[in-house]
Amino acid sequence: MAAQSKPFRIADDVSRSRNIPWFQSKIGSSLTPAGRSLLEIYSGIPASEVEAHIYDTRDSVWEIFPWPCVGEFWFVTLGLSQHPQYDTLLTRLRNQTPPTKFLDLGCCLGQDLRKLVHDGAPLEALWGSDYFAKYEGAGQEFFRDKDRFQNRFIAADLFDESPDSGLVPTAGTWDVISIVMFLHMYDWNRQVQCCRQILKLLSKSKGSMVIGAQTGAIDAEEVVLKPPYVAEGEERTVFRHNIKTFTRMWQEVGNEVGVQLDISVVYDHQADRERRVKEEQGGGKDKFFSGATHRRLCFTVTIA
Ligand SMILES: C[S@@+](CC[C@H](N)C(=O)[O-])C[C@H]1O[C@@H](n2cnc3c(N)ncnc32)[C@H](O)[C@@H]1O
Repeated sequence: MAAQSKPFRIADDVSRSRNIPWFQSKIGSSLTPAGRSLLEIYSGIPASEVEAHIYDTRDSVWEIFPWPCVGEFWFVTLGLSQHPQYDTLLTRLRNQTPPTKFLDLGCCLGQDLRKLVHDGAPLEALWGSDYFAKYEGAGQEFFRDKDRFQNRFIAADLFDESPDSGLVPTAGTWDVISIVMFLHMYDWNRQVQCCRQILKLLSKSKGSMVIGAQTGAIDAEEVVLKPPYVAEGEERTVFRHNIKTFTRMWQEVGNEVGVQLDISVVYDHQADRERRVKEEQGGGKDKFFSGATHRRLCFTVTIA
């Protein structure tokens, strides 16, 4: 992969330390019944071994990159399946001829892809892509499906526009692109760049869509990151959208590239209710990046 400069980093000195607030000691509510059932039924892991398998995987995958989604066990929550449009997406994937071509961009271990397969989506319609090539093998080990889940992975940096990039030749071919917990890693300008790149990859046929979820906030703001997320003295921000700013961003990019977009964004109130109940019951916080003013945004951006 001929990636340009690294698109993200966490302070180097602490980068693989486990003394980081989002390296959680317990799986807690991240392991949902759906996550457990995927590991037991799809992967064939005995019920008594599921948790140990998750801890082992988390610890080894932490060495690839210390993402919050890894430290906080989000990778067993199967975020896409909690999207309000998941069932509609599944119906489309199951029934459309020719198959709907689906890309999980920033797929990490590829958990959302395995969930789709488990729920009946055709394997040949699904691909995952990530900056880190090592996630392909790590995902196959985690889901014990090396024999069944092959050649579904494109290692590439979304920002790499060179002909060597595995994504560049696929421009304009994807019917659905999923971006779960992706854009919120970046500041406003970088998110705009991501949206432009994503629209290049997306097919321009009516109904092609981007689906996803990410951390947002009731009051949108550019958040200044502090150590350990950045090195001491380093200045970097991430943009937390609310519904209005998220919609505006996509509208602006759509206008710039000349495509008309239908943008639908909702707050995931269920996730917020669960967080509150847990905190009120004294269960503490098992998500470093969630709080009273945060809201998960669930969205679809569709070619009109
Ligand atoms: C926060 S994680 C979310 C992973 C997964 N979608 C999930 O919901 O658990 C973001 C993922 O995007 C990948 N990523 C970030 N920037 C990228 C880029 N420029 N090109 C390709 N992948 C990228 C990271 O390596 C990481 O796996």
